[in-house]
Amino acid sequence: MSNIHVNITDALGTVSQKAIEAMASEVRESVATLVEGTGAGNDFLGWVRLPENTPDSLVDDINATAARLRGECEVVVVVGIGGSYLGAKAVLEALGNPFDVYNKDARPQIVFAGHNIGEDYLHDLQQYLDGKQFGIVVISKSGTTTEPAIAFRLLKAQLEAAVGRDTAARRIVAITDAKRGALRTLATEEGYTTYVIDDNVGGRFSVLSPVGLLPIAIAGHDIKALLDGARERQKAILSGADKSAEVYATTRNALYRAGKKIEILVNYNPRLHYFAEWWKQLYGESEGKDHKGIFPAAVDFSTDLHSMGQWIQDGERSIFETVISVSKVDHEVRIPSDEANLDGLNFLAGKRVDEVNKMAELGTRLAHIDGGVPNILITIDALTERTLGSLIYFFEAACGISGYMLGVNPFNQPGVEAYKRNMFALLAKPGYEEETKAIRERIG
Ligand code: PA5
Repeated sequence: MSNIHVNITDALGTVSQKAIEAMASEVRESVATLVEGTGAGNDFLGWVRLPENTPDSLVDDINATAARLRGECEVVVVVGIGGSYLGAKAVLEALGNPFDVYNKDARPQIVFAGHNIGEDYLHDLQQYLDGKQFGIVVISKSGTTTEPAIAFRLLKAQLEAAVGRDTAARRIVAITDAKRGALRTLATEEGYTTYVIDDNVGGRFSVLSPVGLLPIAIAGHDIKALLDGARERQKAILSGADKSAEVYATTRNALYRAGKKIEILVNYNPRLHYFAEWWKQLYGESEGKDHKGIFPAAVDFSTDLHSMGQWIQDGERSIFETVISVSKVDHEVRIPSDEANLDGLNFLAGKRVDEVNKMAELGTRLAHIDGGVPNILITIDALTERTLGSLIYFFEAACGISGYMLGVNPFNQPGVEAYKRNMFALLAKPGYEEETKAIRERIG
């Protein structure tokens, strides 16, 4: 099994080992609540056994659709927002070469839409697609989310105008609810290839379903290995053999109770930027409710040491850091010697760039610990499909456990409706007449 090592030694200055041990029965209860499905939100626990329950036939089918799109398209646009795009984006960034727009074969390029309402973004995307052979993977569990619906409307019209309705229907894949929603209705009418997001899998826990698997397969990555990594981690966590998720969940709750209200997920590998975005949604939407919950933040080091480093070292002591450390990088690049040595860096000549990065990591961790920032260190071997599958499942399981320890329902997100109600009222959506009147009076 790929390695995930959780080290909490450097959090123990703020919370004692004894305090953590005192939470043992609480964490055991939370694990049991999750595994036995007896807690709040238990109709959204499909993700718990999703890796094990995903049949090879589905994986083969997804790979076949991915191969077809790869053959037909220069670009595939993945349309979705929140849990319907962040997981795929996280894995593509973690495994891909950013200069190839994610795809190791550089065809098709994969771009995203529907995760914002930027008019310029959509204009620029349409211009970029003009004259290119493109396909669309549209992902929306509800099938009614405004941002992806607007983007899909535009892109579908563009594709149909370019290649005709029949060819467009072959190049569009919809991932949505099995029966409900506008997208399901349209997909049935137009004969799109479709995949289902199960009712009991919430958006932010859906990366290991077709939601994440199809875009990742289109990019040429091994989704079987991704699922294998997740399956191994699932088996180890659910059997109780692997306590890493429990340790992480317990420690972050102990720190929260000790006044550390903000968790900063730190990486030293630029490929993990979107993994942190995925993690922020997972923990933010799962825990931020009933006026409680750790605020999940993220930084990319060493980049953000030159912007946020000062605050973290010296600002208010309400934070803790969780560092994801990747032991091995994929490639070797050595720093050259320079005859003039004007930058004074010849003492690094011959060293690998990663050696410098690792010393930046260690030096920063030590400085932040000295500055009163408790530190949880999560080490993984390398960024591969298998380790990422394992890490995704680890964070999902820890999130469920942690949410129950916090005393919230980790699987709903009632708070995200508030902005939508106001937006629809302001846009005078039919059915919102009273809200429209009230909000217009309020804003004058
Ligand atoms: O985690 C969630 O449930 C949300 O972030 C959703 O994924 C997001 O709002 C998109 O919803 P949908 O897939 O229904 O378009």
